[in-house]
Amino acid sequence: MAILVTGGIGYIGSHTVVELLQTGHEVVIADNLSNSCVKVLDRIKQLTGKDARFYEADIRDRAAMDKIFKENEIESCIHFAGLKAVGESVAKPLEYYDNNVSGTVNLLEVMRDNNVKNIIFSSSATVYGDPETIPITESCPKGVCTNPYGWTKSMLEQILMDLQKSDPEWNVVLLRYFNPIGAHKSGIMGENPNGIPNNLMPYITQVAVGRREELGVFGDDYNTHDGTGVRDYIHVVDLADGHVKALERLKPGTGLSIYNLGTGIGYSVLDVVKNFEKASGVRIPYSIKPRRPGDIDASYADASKAKRELGWEAKNGILEMCQDSWNWQKNNPNGYED
Ligand code: NAD
Ligand code: UD1
Repeated sequence: MAILVTGGIGYIGSHTVVELLQTGHEVVIADNLSNSCVKVLDRIKQLTGKDARFYEADIRDRAAMDKIFKENEIESCIHFAGLKAVGESVAKPLEYYDNNVSGTVNLLEVMRDNNVKNIIFSSSATVYGDPETIPITESCPKGVCTNPYGWTKSMLEQILMDLQKSDPEWNVVLLRYFNPIGAHKSGIMGENPNGIPNNLMPYITQVAVGRREELGVFGDDYNTHDGTGVRDYIHVVDLADGHVKALERLKPGTGLSIYNLGTGIGYSVLDVVKNFEKASGVRIPYSIKPRRPGDIDASYADASKAKRELGWEAKNGILEMCQDSWNWQKNNPNGYED
């Protein structure tokens, strides 16, 4: 029996495939390579000594997805495939709703038709909007998202909840990620953003290797200890491990489960810069810029539910996250393009 990993060539998916193969799972990947590089498959093999079966397929393509279910004995799906650039989603909302929402509905229909009713979904802390209280627990009400990307996550959570309610044979795990950073300890697998990075850590690492001049810090007048935004950064390998643990919840009768995956600790933008400088020995020049629309003061998780119910907790601290991001970027200054 195999685990279908949609988006398994991407940043979080590829690290999860490594953990799955290393814990003895059989893996089938479906990815349309719209935001990833097929060379990742060689890196997965290098790290694990094993192959994942790869299909270049779009989750919106019903025939292609059906073929995967017919050719493999899939027991569960870990669903990462989706577009994730916040700014792009504002400019291209239809593309985002089509890819993320229609794509997932298509995937779910194919799963149902093939009687595979176990799914782990990549959600995001973005569904909390501007949270009422922090640290954020899973019972914190979902909030108003500030962009179409966030709404796709919020809507898909609702679709999955409605589906599970309509048919209790479905087992659904919604994993709300906080801010994934870091890379595999080997330095041969990591984040590979296209164009100008939107997120903090890839921007910092590109400044560190000289691809960008300086970091813009988006606002220093937030209600935080140093005025810059506070987030809960989580090592991508810890996040990957969270998925392996969450597979245990896909047992008959478990139904719907929701977990925050974070460390429970918030760091400001300047805290991250300082830790990165310490980890790398490289100075990161920065200047203060205006606030980025839609950003909030602070967001960090109460991750105790995942610890209690999944036996999962993040092991890597901020310094290790910075070290591993740096190790990846310095060995692969142009990502997988080298
Ligand atoms: P990523 O872009 O690196 O990986 C996504 C993968 O999905 C890519 O390989 C892409 O080619 C593939 N894909 C996209 N649309 C597809 C489609 N229609 N059919 C088949 N494949 C498709 O992103 P990531 O950072 O690894 O994120 C994985 C998931 O986690 C996404 O759903 C993302 O929204 C979610 N998430 C990410 C973060 C983060 O900070 N990285 C935070 C919260 C949630
Ligand atoms: C963002 C998205 C979120 C998405 C996540 C992962 C928004 C509002 N939220 O989260 O939906 O799930 O990315 O893709 O876009 N920062 C800088 N300079 C930079 C980049 C970032 O100062 O060049 C600051 C931001 O203002 C923020 C912090 O760094 O305070 C983290 O930003 P980022 O990495 O983009 O993550 P989020 O905004 O938390």
